[in-house]
Amino acid sequence: MTMYDVIVPVNLLFASQPRLAASRRSCTDSGTMSTFPIPIVVLTAMEAVDCIFQGRGNVASYHQDCVASGLCQPDISETDFLLNFRRRIRGLRWNPFCHRPIISDLQNDCLIVQDGIELCCLSKALGKSWVKVSMPEDVHARWLARSTDDLDNAVVRFSRKSFYNPVEHPAYRKAKIGRPDSIRLDRIRKLLGPIGPGLCGLDIGCNMGYTSHHLQRQGFRMTGIDYDENHLAVARALTTTYGLDVRFENCYFRQFQTDKPFDVVVALTVLYHMFYRQEEQDIPECSRMDKGAVMKKLDALTRHALLWESGPDPGREIDFIRSNSGLTDYYSLGPTQGTGKKRELGVFLRPDSSLNDYLKKRHAAHFAGR
Ligand SMILES: C[S@@+](CC[C@H](N)C(=O)[O-])C[C@H]1O[C@@H](n2cnc3c(N)ncnc32)[C@H](O)[C@@H]1O
Repeated sequence: MTMYDVIVPVNLLFASQPRLAASRRSCTDSGTMSTFPIPIVVLTAMEAVDCIFQGRGNVASYHQDCVASGLCQPDISETDFLLNFRRRIRGLRWNPFCHRPIISDLQNDCLIVQDGIELCCLSKALGKSWVKVSMPEDVHARWLARSTDDLDNAVVRFSRKSFYNPVEHPAYRKAKIGRPDSIRLDRIRKLLGPIGPGLCGLDIGCNMGYTSHHLQRQGFRMTGIDYDENHLAVARALTTTYGLDVRFENCYFRQFQTDKPFDVVVALTVLYHMFYRQEEQDIPECSRMDKGAVMKKLDALTRHALLWESGPDPGREIDFIRSNSGLTDYYSLGPTQGTGKKRELGVFLRPDSSLNDYLKKRHAAHFAGR
């Protein structure tokens, strides 16, 4: 079989593993989840690689997975497994001739890694955004068929010189990006784990749709809203490039109408604009909605979780959200860096939500004490 070497975004690398699919079914009640691929940052292999690089956590889950799938001897102790694993990772890191990860499929715009998961996780841990992989001819043809025509037109139409977030396409690999890293996405994925299929999400102030697109890749039915048509033109064009079907609506949050709440609401560096900045700037379309009314609407729209990134004063926003909504449980996902500014990423949960226990456990496993 002819294989092609291609450079691809690390954030499009997913795995489809039957054992992981089985464990996913136990996370929620939905039986439809097993066909959906899992982003590599959610894999136990990533936990194990992080354990080596950051000295936190352990390799126990990956050890169990490797034993269960026959990738290592059933009687190997965790200590020996860790020693071998560390040696293997060191070898991969320093051997420029090691085999490239092999991609077996392009599913729902996710590159399915068939072989070389550890190298993919290593690339992620080393902070790489792109990695060289090998793919067979049919996958390669589908990969190349992701056209950027609509995006190219939007860029020309709006004289766009840069993007807020990365574009997951080789033609825009060198584009100027406001927030080039994917720290927020990685943390959100680690918190959510393999859930997505059967759930819906709303991304407020979605800009070019970066988070919406990524959450839809892992199975969420996503809606993104933003008042800026320039940003939404990019979001829509990228939806075509990626072959996804996120619904984007050009409106202010105040104007957004829906007849049902969303399982997960995403509001990254946008509530601060709505609560404080837009009042101060007296934007006509927003001035009629004070922050109490914004919060009431947000509360009604959020069924389980509000994923949030702050403005310059996280404490002020946290207090306001907790005391003006049913989203009273707050868990920090750590500090972040906006476009040169310090921010905080976190999640607000409802104490009575059916996802509360699941998300709290994932938070304890991946974020507590960090
Ligand atoms: C700082 S950017 C953050 C973009 C994205 N949420 C992220 O963090 O990657 C804020 C975005 O929110 C949008 N926005 C601000 N106020 C809004 C409002 N009241 N309704 C809808 N979108 C809004 C802006 O157009 C902009 O795209």
